[in-house]
Amino acid sequence: MATSFDPRTFKNFINGDWVSARSGKTFENRNPANRHELVGHFPASDASDVDAAVDAAKAAYDKWRLTPAPRRAEILYRVAQHLIARKEDFARAMTQEMGKVLDETRGDVQEAIDMTYLMAGEGRRQFGVTTPSELPSKFAMAVRAPIGVAGLITPWNFPMAIPSWKIMPALICGNTMVLKPAEDTPLSTYHLTYAMQEAGLPPGVLNVVFGDGPGAGAPILRHRDVHLVSFTGSTEVGRLVSEACAPKFKKCHLEMGGKNIIVVMDDANLDLAIEGALWGAFGTTGQRCTAASRIAVHKKVYGAFAEKFVERAKALKVGDGLITGTQMGPCINEQQLGTVMKYVEIGVKEGAKLAAGGHRLEKGALAYGWFHEPTVFTDCDPKMRICQEEIFGPVASLIPFGSFDEAIAIANGVNYGLSASVYTHDVNHSFRALRDLQTGIVYINAPTIGAEVHLPFGGIKNTGNGHRESGTAALDFYSDWKTLYIDYSDKLQRAQIDTGE
Ligand code: UN1
Repeated sequence: MATSFDPRTFKNFINGDWVSARSGKTFENRNPANRHELVGHFPASDASDVDAAVDAAKAAYDKWRLTPAPRRAEILYRVAQHLIARKEDFARAMTQEMGKVLDETRGDVQEAIDMTYLMAGEGRRQFGVTTPSELPSKFAMAVRAPIGVAGLITPWNFPMAIPSWKIMPALICGNTMVLKPAEDTPLSTYHLTYAMQEAGLPPGVLNVVFGDGPGAGAPILRHRDVHLVSFTGSTEVGRLVSEACAPKFKKCHLEMGGKNIIVVMDDANLDLAIEGALWGAFGTTGQRCTAASRIAVHKKVYGAFAEKFVERAKALKVGDGLITGTQMGPCINEQQLGTVMKYVEIGVKEGAKLAAGGHRLEKGALAYGWFHEPTVFTDCDPKMRICQEEIFGPVASLIPFGSFDEAIAIANGVNYGLSASVYTHDVNHSFRALRDLQTGIVYINAPTIGAEVHLPFGGIKNTGNGHRESGTAALDFYSDWKTLYIDYSDKLQRAQIDTGE
């Protein structure tokens, strides 16, 4: 299939064609490791572009919903193969626009491949329910039915994986869609879209409009022909999304903030816990919803843990993620760097001890990017703002505790509930933690990050609104249950009344 894109000026994807924003406006996508490096120009879309995209999705819906799911799946298998073939190129491009190190961007593309294969498999599963009827000569079952046009709004921290978490289940269930990716990372979504076009996805099934939230995201939420909305981003914006969906009772999935914790018990393998905490706190520059921003350590091992952890955090190599040996990339943009710096100030004012980092990195080439030192606060009180609010940057707060019960109370004493982890060898503590931690995901002897695509992903409290992505749980969001009764008795049978008594 021919494409008509210029490598530096990208277009929206509407009804199978690459088209500019109707206004002709564009925005720039720059490398957060070097703001002088322009990655590309992307359309600054508005409501008129969204209208065209939704019209295309609506027009494509009937044919797509009637395409057998195993046939839909064949396209997804081809998408996965395309992603495998281009994995290295797509990962490099992702590091350029997003900043995280190459190993991680390879992981991001891999996660999209995994999700695509998983959902392709659902083309031949999508199991429903068959069950005996309470009446004779009557058949009862429930099947998954597509819903319509999905509006998908995705973040910049997993620029290919998270769009795939939404696109693939939406597609396999028979929905059509309009996607608006984060304005900081449009290129990776472009690459995914390109793969889908190459794989032969019919026009109008997936439409992509680039742009910012108010310009291109909000019109998707408000559009009367959009029936369900899936959003990943901040809790603040999630609330607006929820409110926009409420008047029309649109099905709405929200995946929002986190304040995740690693609990290190006194019997833990300390070296393993330190390794895990470094990865959990500073992987992706702390810019994961699942990042470990709180590390609670039993008083008996607190001193030893803190000393080594601080030393290791200070030694992390920060820089351009494309350079071999770099362990941590930049913050995504100036605003996010500003947020990190603001929270460092707040932590200092609150009386936490700044034990590592705490400053923007500006030496040499780093001056052109949004780099911040890996930062560790020690001796924190769990009620401090740095231990309560999501920072979304390379800042870890160490909290000492005296007992397992106290650790669980600290863990649960926040408004978020995405991911938590406990390092211990005690089987009783492990199982109590699995039961009592108020989060959607719990790890034992592994950090708070590292979810796999075939299990439900999501959280409680201010993290989510009850839906889950990934695994077969995602199908529950992208389909409606349709319950079917077939009475072949040739007479009126009244449920609950004709009981045969
Ligand atoms: C996120 O935290 O923003 O579980 C998504 C993980 C990844 C996805 C994270 N598979 O760490």
